[in-house]
Amino acid sequence: MDQFLITGSSRIAGEVTISGAKNAALPLLAAMILAETPTTLHNVPSLQDVRTLIRLIAGMGIDIQKQGDTVTCDTKSIDNFYAPYDLVKTMRASILVLGPLLARFGEAEVSLPGGCAIGSRPVDQHLKAFEAMGAHITVENGYVKAQAPKGGRLIGCNFSFDMITVGGTENVIMAAALAKGTTVLGNCALEPEVVDLANMLVAMGAKISGIGTATMTIEGVERLQGCEYSVVPDRIETGSYLAGALMTRGDVLAKKTNAALLYPVLEKFEAMGATITTGEDWIRAQMTVRPHPVDIRTQPHPGFPTDMQAQLMAICCLADGTSTIIENIFENRYMHVPELNRLGASIQVDGHTAVVKGVEHFTAAPVMATDLRASMSLVMAASAAEGESLIDRIYHIDRGYEDVENKLRALGVNIERINTND
Ligand code: EPU
Repeated sequence: MDQFLITGSSRIAGEVTISGAKNAALPLLAAMILAETPTTLHNVPSLQDVRTLIRLIAGMGIDIQKQGDTVTCDTKSIDNFYAPYDLVKTMRASILVLGPLLARFGEAEVSLPGGCAIGSRPVDQHLKAFEAMGAHITVENGYVKAQAPKGGRLIGCNFSFDMITVGGTENVIMAAALAKGTTVLGNCALEPEVVDLANMLVAMGAKISGIGTATMTIEGVERLQGCEYSVVPDRIETGSYLAGALMTRGDVLAKKTNAALLYPVLEKFEAMGATITTGEDWIRAQMTVRPHPVDIRTQPHPGFPTDMQAQLMAICCLADGTSTIIENIFENRYMHVPELNRLGASIQVDGHTAVVKGVEHFTAAPVMATDLRASMSLVMAASAAEGESLIDRIYHIDRGYEDVENKLRALGVNIERINTND
């Protein structure tokens, strides 16, 4: 298992090129299953989660290849509609193949994802929507078995999600794109990654209106064709590197990104004292003062994203006052708190609320990464701390941050990957 050895304290400053968004690339890869002709996807990040999904899709007999940041996919040789537990257990987003398989081939057998470090994360809303579209769903031996109604096609319906779900919205719009008749979906997620998926489906020939709003209307078509499409920039990767500037009185220029996707985060960065400047495809964060405390509550887009909660908390740890953070999306997304406290932070958690008393400095310590975003908060905190910090279990970070140590090095972080098997 790899570890990071970080020697601080560094001023995080320089330029970083942002990759395609993990959370957009995954549904876009799943959507490729819907197309009858070849699809090409550009700006796909090289990440463990992307490799897992490509393996899962290839396991169905589909010809899918990644070269550089481009993935090509031809579905004509598909010979099974099965997603095994071995792969699904390593990545919950695997459930996104269920909608496309069911819609196009009328059947699917996909392992039910288990819980994960940040919460139980059920998929009941996905299944409820498929049932509303006429699918027969059973859960047997840990697998969801789904069958389209007689005739082999899902049937358009009116369905409103009980809560806002990113993956649920994605799975169901993919299914509805090939359903018979019109689906009106209420209480949809508005995340930029959902919008990116809807736009790619339209490029494949889907008929969707209301994209980017809470109600989407999808008029099912009989077939979808391949297209050429490029993944939207990763707003969370962008925010994570900019956060480093705020923690170290630094200056980070993020390139190949999009400020419009990130304004709930940029507003908080400004409230903390950063100067934010933006251009068509770049964002610069400059920080010359100790961060000011802020209060945040995570919410579905366009609220403050839960995927930036840990990184923002790490900045609050160094603020000149007390910040309050409320995590509303996941029930267990404070695993980084005891680790940040090991680095000298002063954070107390009571249920969904974390109270963060600012301290002047982090102090180096060995810490353990607990999930993807938590890992990044620890990496940034360790970069700001004087001395050597060893971060264990960094496989979490490899799931979602492309080329992370090279990007950090270019920003002045003294970081080394240690392979403990060596
Ligand atoms: N939920 C249900 N039932 C469902 C679906 C969701 O109860 O059927 C609950 C979840 O348990 C959770 C909340 O609803 O408490 C929101 O879950 P959502 O479905 O929106 O999350 P997701 O699709 O599983 C995606 C991202 C996450 C990100 C969340 C929220 C991908 C691959 N993952 O997850 O990203 O935190 O949306 O924005 O898109 C990450 O990148 O680190 C990450 C965890």
